[in-house]
Amino acid sequence: MADPAVIRIFDTTLRDGEQSPGATLTTGEKLQVAESLVRLNVDIIEAGFPAASPGDLAAVKEIARQAKGVAVAGLARAAISDIDACWEAVSEAENPVIHVFLATSDIHLKHKLNISPEEALQRIASTVSYARNLCPTVEFSAEDATRSDWDYLCRVFETAIKCGATTVNTPDTVGYTMPHEYEALFRYLRERVPGIEDVVMSAHCHNDLGMATANTMAAIRAGARQVEVTLNGLGERAGNTAMEEVVMALRTRPDYYGNVTTRINNQEFLAASQLVSRLTGIPVQPNKAVVGANAFAHEAGIYQDGLLKNRLTYEVMTPQSVGWSDTKLVLGKHSGRHGLDARLRQLGHRLDAEQLKTAYKRFITLADQKKHITDADLVYIVESGKETPAAI
Ligand code: KIV
Ligand code: ZN
Repeated sequence: MADPAVIRIFDTTLRDGEQSPGATLTTGEKLQVAESLVRLNVDIIEAGFPAASPGDLAAVKEIARQAKGVAVAGLARAAISDIDACWEAVSEAENPVIHVFLATSDIHLKHKLNISPEEALQRIASTVSYARNLCPTVEFSAEDATRSDWDYLCRVFETAIKCGATTVNTPDTVGYTMPHEYEALFRYLRERVPGIEDVVMSAHCHNDLGMATANTMAAIRAGARQVEVTLNGLGERAGNTAMEEVVMALRTRPDYYGNVTTRINNQEFLAASQLVSRLTGIPVQPNKAVVGANAFAHEAGIYQDGLLKNRLTYEVMTPQSVGWSDTKLVLGKHSGRHGLDARLRQLGHRLDAEQLKTAYKRFITLADQKKHITDADLVYIVESGKETPAAI
């Protein structure tokens, strides 16, 4: 049994993330992302959906061959042909994983699959058994679990576990659940599903209502020991849970999460985030937690003043811990004299009190006209001692 104090990071940037509109990657690009996931030290790379296309199968196969020290998973619908394609793709991995899914909510069973709940149970039994005969590690996901009947979900997981599933995943496929509800669902399953104590419980959340990270963290409190995440929160529609947010939340609040940890090298986050953004062409929003350009940037004078005295005043983690070189003190009209003085010192200008007063006056005049004050503007302000440069 896995160490209960370690949360497994199952990265699905190359599967659910790549399903994001416009995020399609070539095999070469997928390999670059896989290398960066290995540097991050994720536990499992979900490399793709082999039955989706020959290109997907080939890419998963290549990643399975090349990625060392990590498990490689492929996704498969609960169908023999999908599982065969998946096994063909992952079988050469050091630790192959077949990830089988079937929807379990009434809405999906009736309108999408057109099968009864009993038929779904039979399909789960036959396909999970088939997958387990091929592969020692099989994950079963109950798609749309959070809109499924809870007692039926217990029967679903009981069946999957009896047929050999080693991980059971409870996806919030449409980003519908709320943190307390998701936590309660995990507790409900833990208390009622026979054999669940012998398998890994996994959380997989989508961000349609902006709850993906909060829901994933709630599941950890209720016993989830695997989380399914992507870099930059990339994924279908509003995206999946962002890996960097979950990992840094666990690192920052061990007191709240019972000291559970991950194996992630968090200093690699920025490089990995920028690689994914560059290859997919999907920019990272500036205010994105952990990896956004403004995640460690401070403009307001009161914050800058506090930070210059002690960074604990306004930062809960260091920029260096996730790959940034330092905190960015952005100078704008909200900045104060301390921030200006600190930046000028970095630029080699030590002003006395009177000089600083004059420079600050000019700086505020310029900041009122210009959105971004550059270092060149600051040097000009100090050196010219005359007028400020024209607004852009
Ligand atoms: O969101 C979802 O339900 C999925 C499954 C295939 C695991 O991505
Ligand atoms: Zn998903």
